[in-house]
Amino acid sequence: MNLEQEKEIAAKEAVKLLRDNMIVGLGTGSSSFYAIREIAKLVSNGLKIKAVPTSNKTKELAEALNIPLIDINLINSIDITIDGADEFTSDLILIKGGGGALLREKIVASLTKQEIIIADSSKEVKQIGKFKVPIEVIPFASNYALNQIKILNGIGKIRMTGDTPFKTDQANNIIDADFGLISDPASLSKKLNEINGIVGHGIFIGLTSKVIMGKGDSTVIFD
Ligand code: A5P
Repeated sequence: MNLEQEKEIAAKEAVKLLRDNMIVGLGTGSSSFYAIREIAKLVSNGLKIKAVPTSNKTKELAEALNIPLIDINLINSIDITIDGADEFTSDLILIKGGGGALLREKIVASLTKQEIIIADSSKEVKQIGKFKVPIEVIPFASNYALNQIKILNGIGKIRMTGDTPFKTDQANNIIDADFGLISDPASLSKKLNEINGIVGHGIFIGLTSKVIMGKGDSTVIFD
C-alpha cells in the first residue's frame, strides 16, 4: 500500500459518517480530494447535503462534481468537516496549511461540530514541528512578522511560487516558519496569534474530533 492509497482508504472511511441534511465542510489538499470525490458519488446517489469549501480550489472542484454549496455566512454551524493535515499527534494537535488554505480551514473547523482529519501514515508524529508552520500574514506586515517570528526563535521564509510570493485566497502571504520540534504548541499558537498582521497559522489545537489514518489496507482511529 502506498501513501496515496492510505489517503483514499481514510477518505472512504470518513465519508461513512455523512447523513442526509448535514452541512459538510470540505477540506483542501490531496487527502481531501479523495473525500470530495467520494462525497460527489454519494450526492449523485441521492445523499442530501450542503457543503462549505475551505478554499477556492475546493469550491471549483465541488462545483465541477455537482456538490451543492452553501455560503458560510448564511450558517451558524457545520455538522461535519473532512480535511487533511500535514502532521498530527495522538492527542490531536495538528499542523495544517501546506496547501496554503489554513485560514479558511481554521474558520471552518471552528464552526464544525465533528472535525474529521484524514491522513496517510506518514503524517503521525510524536511532536509537531518537523513540518514548518505555515503562517498567513497580510503583505504589509510580512517583514515585521518575520522579525517577530525570529524573536520567538523561529526561522521564517516567505513562501514563493517561482519568483513571486505565493498568494492565499485572501491575497495574503504565507511565511513557513521553522521552530524545530515544538514542545509547547499552545504557547506558540497564542504568541503567533498576538502578532499584528498575522491573520492565522497552521497549528490546530482543540479543533479536531477524530483522525482517521490510513495504514496499509486498513485505518487507525485517534480520538
Ligand atoms: C491545506 O492548506 C492543508 O491544510 C492540507 O489539508 C494539508 O496540507 C494536507 O494536505 P495533503 O492532504 O495534500 O497532504
